[in-house]
Amino acid sequence: MKHLLNLSLILLLALSSCGDAPEKSNSTESSEELNVYTHRHYESDKVLFAEFEKETGIKVNVVNAKADELMMKIEQEGELSPADVLITVDAGRLVRAKNKGILQRVKSKILNTNIPAKYRDEENNWFGLTKRARVFIYNPEVMKAEDFSTYRDLADQKWKGTIAVRSSENIYNQSLMAGIIANSHVDFAKAWAENVVKNMCRAPKGNDRDQIKAAYHGDAKVAIANTYYLGKMIGSSDEEEAKIGKAMKIFFPNTETTGTHVNISGAGVCKYAPNKDNAVKFLEFLSSKSAQETFSTANYEYPVNPEASTSMLLLSWGEMIEDPLNLAILGELNKQAVQTFDAAGWK
Ligand SMILES: [Fe+2]
Repeated sequence: MKHLLNLSLILLLALSSCGDAPEKSNSTESSEELNVYTHRHYESDKVLFAEFEKETGIKVNVVNAKADELMMKIEQEGELSPADVLITVDAGRLVRAKNKGILQRVKSKILNTNIPAKYRDEENNWFGLTKRARVFIYNPEVMKAEDFSTYRDLADQKWKGTIAVRSSENIYNQSLMAGIIANSHVDFAKAWAENVVKNMCRAPKGNDRDQIKAAYHGDAKVAIANTYYLGKMIGSSDEEEAKIGKAMKIFFPNTETTGTHVNISGAGVCKYAPNKDNAVKFLEFLSSKSAQETFSTANYEYPVNPEASTSMLLLSWGEMIEDPLNLAILGELNKQAVQTFDAAGWK
């Protein structure tokens, strides 16, 4: 009996020291973890990450910072980077991340089914997860929907001194400009920007919410802003902000021409992701009908998954006819957009 026990002990030792054992234990460990570098800092995301943990048993570790900082961090960490997933906003930034070579191609039937082609990279390096429109926001006490039509119309001198819009350093404006260039011509885009600058109510300052507030207070007749900011104001715990949000209305420009400019927030699997399978599972989860509906209700964004319902609040803003441009173009034309803004004197 003693002899048998000794034999099994030797066998056990031999097994645990064989070459495969450590690898196996590593892979078990990594299947329980996921490192997410994200620029988004929304409550909706925290809720979804917790749901993913609960559903899969995979622990989600979050690194939160500005988009450019995260990209630089991933670049500097190189092959040793623990980053599995990069989440950021704006197609322009997702294209930038791909061009820096910090993402990798992902093969997933689920992602390809859940996310229409125009919202993802053609080589599947990044995937759009939510949509947002860059629209006109106005105070209905001062203006009517009939007063508005297109982005192009804002260049008309009748708008002199009435437009509130943020700086051209902002990527949302850069992508709007890229869209205008894609739908027309760079010379047209430059002339448009020059005239919009003449029509601004003040030199660009503040964020999208500040533009909405300027239009509410009558400093401007129209604010250019992303849809979800109005949603955030409406849902704000700050009474004044909520009051302003509820008072304002959205106009979707270009409904009868090229469609309203839309952009995405999205994610990609990092090139050296140590937990690639978990990363793919995570993106599949975020693109699912239920997660997409959480983005819509909790963060006022439009789902990219056509199976998901848009929240009642967003539906109440009216029908959005989207610009059909493939969103990768916004990234490809980013440099030209920045140059066009500079040439037009849009600070
Ligand atoms: Fe934003």
